[in-house]
Amino acid sequence: MSAAVYHSRLRQSAEERRAETHPLTWRLREDGELVGLAEYLDKDGYGAVREALAGDPEAVIATMKTANVRGRGGAGFSAGTKWGLTLTGGDLPRGYLVCNADEMEPGTFKDRLLMEQLPHLLIEGMILAGFANRSRQGYVFLRGEYRRAARALGQAIDEAREAGWLGGDIGGSGFDFDIALHTGAGRYICGEETALINSLEGRRANPRAKPPFPGQSGAWGKPTVVNNVETLCNVPGVLRHGADWYQGLSGGLSEDGGTKLFGVSGRVARPGLWELPMGTPAAELLDRAGGLAGGRDLKAWLPGGASTGFLLPEHLALALDFDTIGRAGSRLGTGLMTVVPDDQPMPALLRNLETFFARESCGWCTPCREGLPWTVRLLEALERGEGEPGDLERLESLARDLGPGRTFCAHAPGAAMPLESALTHFREEFEAGIARPAPRPVGEEG
Ligand SMILES: Cc1cc2nc3c(=O)[nH]c(=O)nc-3n(C[C@H](O)[C@H](O)[C@H](O)COP(=O)(O)O)c2cc1C
Ligand code: SF4
Repeated sequence: MSAAVYHSRLRQSAEERRAETHPLTWRLREDGELVGLAEYLDKDGYGAVREALAGDPEAVIATMKTANVRGRGGAGFSAGTKWGLTLTGGDLPRGYLVCNADEMEPGTFKDRLLMEQLPHLLIEGMILAGFANRSRQGYVFLRGEYRRAARALGQAIDEAREAGWLGGDIGGSGFDFDIALHTGAGRYICGEETALINSLEGRRANPRAKPPFPGQSGAWGKPTVVNNVETLCNVPGVLRHGADWYQGLSGGLSEDGGTKLFGVSGRVARPGLWELPMGTPAAELLDRAGGLAGGRDLKAWLPGGASTGFLLPEHLALALDFDTIGRAGSRLGTGLMTVVPDDQPMPALLRNLETFFARESCGWCTPCREGLPWTVRLLEALERGEGEPGDLERLESLARDLGPGRTFCAHAPGAAMPLESALTHFREEFEAGIARPAPRPVGEEG
């Protein structure tokens, strides 16, 4: 892939990335090549597994709860709390651990970096999560187009199994756990956890009605924990150094602890990824990306993928964390900022985003199946300057119908968020797309 379109690169030098401050990326090589098993072991690899498997699963869950690692797949739900709900009651093994590596959110390329360059960190996190959740089988559900990640993970799983880190009686602990790599065919909806489970089972990837939640009844009817790649990659550090250390990583910038793999794409000088404390101000992230390219000004930005709401330049002072961005009316989402320059017309941008959401709808519920293509048609007309009076109100009403609680999954609310926020902040641009009635010939007035 050409350097021009490959954004999934870390833009921090090895000097900046230290084990005490950069748990996700300190082991990455300067040359961007894969960190194999030998190098991973040299860099304290599988140290957390060695320690944790000598204790009990409840202790792992207790540490994860105190650390409050919030899910990096977009919703920010505490991983420890999720695990605690799954563990309770029942026979052993309890069920399955699934790593969500579908990563198809537009503007998001963080899990890709971790899987391509540091797959053993994910495997270590999965062993720990499997141990805590009393599972014996883990799955990585990987976006099919991520061929380099598939190769790296496949090789790392084989290496780990060969060395006794996967399979029976891991490290002499008596705990059995293995991982299977499953590549999807490349649909956005497969990233929704219940659609992912259907797809994993060989069914059509429609989301399932909740409840029951996957933690109660997931893959093949068993309790199933679904976690994002980055969430799981945080686990070894938390267990190695403790919940207080993890909390301290955000350095008082946020009530949430830890670091986050943030990123920037769009018309910036240096698109890429940075591991920074949770709560880093958005302005600092944009600075690290070199600001806007070509002397442009910032018009708006999406904080974490296409399914988040637009924020304005005045919001750059905000801390990038789940609650702060939520209070500003958007969502942190995946934490990868998409920058919109001042010369970008919003109707065209929205038409592009909503075309994606319409194409990726699974078609199960009416507001999403019918509403999204209708939204695209209205936006196309506005873009051509052929909109009709009332179109903005129609778009607003469609956005309401796509909103939370009206559909089976969060795909439709995700599609509504950028639309609603763009209509609020940039209304005049959409109004300008409404064709005015042709003036009547002179003499026919009145
Ligand atoms: C349409 C849609 C697509 C999603 N895609 C992804 C994805 O690619 N990766 C991911 O981790 N979570 C994705 N999610 C969120 C998952 O449903 C789920 O919340 C997440 O995997 C839980 O992991 P976490 O708690 O570690 O964040 C998606 C959600 C929706 C509604
Ligand atoms: S909201 Fe859309 S993607 Fe989600 S279940 Fe309904 S039709 Fe499918």
